[in-house]
Amino acid sequence: MRLLVCGGAGFIGSTFARMRLKGHGDEVTVLDKLTYAGREENFHDFAGDPRFRFLRGAIEDAEAVAAAIEAGSPEAIVNFAAETHVDRSIAEPDAFVTTHALGTNVLLAAAREHGLRYLQVSTDEVYGSIERGSFSEESPLRPSSPYSATKAGADLLVQSYFHTYGLPAIICRGSNNYGPYQYPEKLIPLMILNALHGDPLPVYGDGMQVRNWIHSSDFAGAIGHVLEHGLPGEVYNAGGPDEESNIAVVRRILELTGARESQIEHVADRPGHDLRYSLSSQKLATLGWAPRVRFSDGLEQTVAWYRENAWWWEPIRSGDYRSYYERQYGRSLHP
Ligand code: NAD
Ligand code: TYD
Repeated sequence: MRLLVCGGAGFIGSTFARMRLKGHGDEVTVLDKLTYAGREENFHDFAGDPRFRFLRGAIEDAEAVAAAIEAGSPEAIVNFAAETHVDRSIAEPDAFVTTHALGTNVLLAAAREHGLRYLQVSTDEVYGSIERGSFSEESPLRPSSPYSATKAGADLLVQSYFHTYGLPAIICRGSNNYGPYQYPEKLIPLMILNALHGDPLPVYGDGMQVRNWIHSSDFAGAIGHVLEHGLPGEVYNAGGPDEESNIAVVRRILELTGARESQIEHVADRPGHDLRYSLSSQKLATLGWAPRVRFSDGLEQTVAWYRENAWWWEPIRSGDYRSYYERQYGRSLHP
C-alpha cells in the first residue's frame, strides 16, 4: 500500500511507519508539523529507505496536505497527528482544538477530493472514565478533558464524512500506550527517567487510578489490521491485555531501575482526573487481532530501551522539556 501517515514523527506514528516499511513493504509518506513531540530522530533506522518520504507540515494547512498527497500519491491516509498530553490540554487547550477539529477536517476534505481511504487514530479517553467493566464501541462518548473532548469531536467529524459523503473512513481507538520512543511527559517514560536520575517520582493523588496498558507495537499492529480488514464507517477498539493502578506501575519501575521507594512523592491530583479506563477489544478480535505483549514483559523491555538509548532522550531532557517540567511540577529536574 501507499500510505500518507500524518503525525508519523511521534511515538506511535513512527512505530507504525517502521512496521509498515519493514514488515509489509508499504510506501510511506509522513506529514508532520514537528511539534515538541515530533522528532526526526524517530526515523533514524528507516530515513534512508527509498520507500520512505518525510514532509514537514501541519494537517490544518490545506496546501501542505495537498503537497503531501501529490508527493506520495497515497491510497489511504492514516491520521496520528494530535496534541496528546492531558496535562498540557488542561493548561493550554487552544492547539488541541486547532489540530483535532480543523486539522482533521482538512484531512477528511482532502481524502474526499482524492477518493482515498481514511483511518482516524483515536483513544479510549473519548468514552470517559468507567468504574467497572469495559467500554465497547457502542458506549456513549463522555470525554472529560480538553484533550479527550477534542479527540471525540474529531471522531464525530470522521463519522459525519462517512454518513454524509460516503467517505470510506474508519476509527481505531487505543488504550494507554507505552514502549520505546514515547516522549517523557507521559507516566511511564517520565517515571523511568526520573528513577534513573534520582529525581522524585510525582504520583498524582493517591495513585489508585487505573489504566489499560497496550504496547505500542500492538497498537500499531491493530491499526494496520483495521486498515486491511476493517469495514468503512465502523469503529474498532484496541485495548491492551492488562490493567494496572498508577502506583503499582511506579513500584514496578522502582524495582526494574533499582530506585528507592523514598523517591515516590504524592503530589496534587490532576483536575478532573479520570479514575479508570478499560476497553473491550471483542469486535477487533472477531477480525483476528489480539495483543501480544503482556504488560510485565513490555515494561521490562521498555525500561531496558530507555537505559540503552540515552542518545534519544538526552536532548529532550536537557531541552524545552525542562521548562515544561518546572511549570507542571513546580520543581527542576536533575541535570
Ligand atoms: P505524540 O505526541 O508522540 O505524537 C504526535 C505527533 O503528531 C507528533 O509527531 C507531532 O509533531 C504531530 N502533530 C501534532 N500536531 C500536528 C499538526 N497539527 N499537524 C501535523 N502533525 C502534528 O503522540 P502519540 O502518543 O504517538 O499519539 C498518536 C495518536 O495516537 C494520537 O492521535 C493519540 O490521540 C492517539 N493515541 C495515543 C495513545 C497514547 O497512549 N499515547 C493512546 C490511544 C490513542
Ligand atoms: P498519562 O501518561 O498522562 O496518560 P493519560 O492521562 O492519557 O492516561 O497519565 C497516566 C496516568 O498517570 C494518569 O492517571 C495520570 C498519572 N500520572 C501521574 O500520576 N503522574 C505524572 O507525573 C503523570 C504524567 C501522570
